[in-house]
Formats: sequence, C-alpha cells, structure tokens
Amino acid sequence: MDVLHSVTDLRQALARHTDCALVPTMGNLHEGHIALIHQARRHGLPVVASIFVNRLQFAPHEDFDQYPRTLAGDCEHLAKAGCDLVFAPSEAELYPQPQTCKVQPNPALADILEGEFRPGFFVGVSTVVMKLFACVQPKVAVFGQKDYQQLMVIRHMVAQMALPIEVEAAPTLRAEDGLALSSRNAYLSPSERAQAIALHQALQTLGKRVAAQPQERQAAEAEALAHLSQLGWQPDYLCIRRRTDLQAPGPDDASGSLVALGAARLGRTRLIDNLEC
Ligand code: PAF
Repeated sequence: MDVLHSVTDLRQALARHTDCALVPTMGNLHEGHIALIHQARRHGLPVVASIFVNRLQFAPHEDFDQYPRTLAGDCEHLAKAGCDLVFAPSEAELYPQPQTCKVQPNPALADILEGEFRPGFFVGVSTVVMKLFACVQPKVAVFGQKDYQQLMVIRHMVAQMALPIEVEAAPTLRAEDGLALSSRNAYLSPSERAQAIALHQALQTLGKRVAAQPQERQAAEAEALAHLSQLGWQPDYLCIRRRTDLQAPGPDDASGSLVALGAARLGRTRLIDNLEC
C-alpha cells in the first residue's frame, strides 16, 4: 500500500488506473472506517483512503488541535483491510494558499441541525470533499451513514455540480451496547462511555413514539430533549425529519420515510447519531 503526501504523486500513481473508489476520512480510524474500506473494495476498483484533518470544518472553539493524528496506526489498519493507496496531504499541500474559494452547500439542507449548531461546518466539509474529489477523481466515494446530514449534503453537491461520482452510504457500525462508533468516542471517560448509549436509546424511543403517534411529534421531541438533559447531557437537537430533505414531517409523511437525528454533549464530548424510522 502506497502512502502519498502530495497531489502530484497521487495523480502519477492514479494515472495507472482508469477508475478508483475513495473513502475520505480524518484519520484516527476505527472499525467503522474499516467497514467503509471493505464496502469500497466490493467495486473491484483500487481503493484510495484520504486522511486529512480539515481545519475548514472546525469552529475556532472546537477540537481541531486535539483531534488525534495517528497516521502510522491508521496505515497499518488500512493495509490489513486491503486499501491500495493512502492520500495523506499536509495542510500546506491541500491548502497552499488560504482556501478563499469555497463550496456553499444548499442552505435548506446545510443550515439546519448540525449546520445550526456548527455554523460553517458544511461549507468546510463540502469544500474539502470537492477538493479531494478533484485530486482523486473517484468513480465511487463511500461515506458513513452515521453522518446522515453530511451524506445528504454531499449527494446534493455531487448532483448539482454534475460530478460523475457515485456516492455510496455505508451503514453505521455500533458497539455491543448500540453506541455508534465514532473517533470522538475516544474522548469519553469510562463513566461517560457507560452513559453514552443514552443518546441512541433516546432516538429509539423517539422514533417508536412518533411512529405510533405522529401527531405527538413535537411533544415527543421536547420530552426526548428534557430526558437527556435530566441525565446530565447538553442536547443540541433530537428530532424527527423526513429522509428526503431533512425537513419536519407533515401529516402525509408516513413512518418508514423518516429519520430520528440527535446531537448532544456529554461532558466535553459532542456525539451525534441517527436512526431511520
Ligand atoms: O466524515 C468525515 O470524517 C469528514 O467530515 C470528511 C468527510 C472526511 C471531510 O473532512
């Protein structure tokens, strides 16, 4: 497996192939990322994993500096998983000049939920993903469904920009107790880790309740927020949205077409999760 740090070397290596599949990551890989590599391999194309902690998607008060950089370990896992090439550019390589040209995603999709609580997040994500797409020019790109809204924002960008890339969703991998695997789980103390399942449970309860009593949706959302707060969390949102556009469902939106989404802080760690319902 080659580990390349420059766009020139990447392009030279990829010139030998007609197509490839890309798995974009910020490193600090866990089994969830490795499952994305396995899914990408099913296309029978060379698999490229990118590892880049993208400053543009972090607000100044967020964990950009603390975000674990574990390139050597990540490369070992990727090689074992059958990844063919790692693209791990430095900041100076990917952003040689301040990145003033940015992708402005659809505000109806990107300024709600995560975008409301992390303003500018999806501009940062869309910009780096567009740049990675330009560098790698993959036929397929695989993203985890745990970042449900991110996946939708990227799909919308690909459609609107007519990029010839198939964006594929990979199911969320969970720990035995149901906690969605995430690089940020590593920030949890042992006692927080034991409590962390409460977010998933709150989404399960919310989803079931709204499926049974759709007219009670807003009350159920408020109760889910209050419940997590009582448990000592600081929830940003817990809500039911339509899968198609992440807008609040109307009377004609049946269960089976909805998704419960949540984000909440437990101590210093902000976790997100979702559940189709
Ligand atoms: O999901 C992530 O790890 C990041 O948001 C991504 C897609 C690699 C862009 O930096």
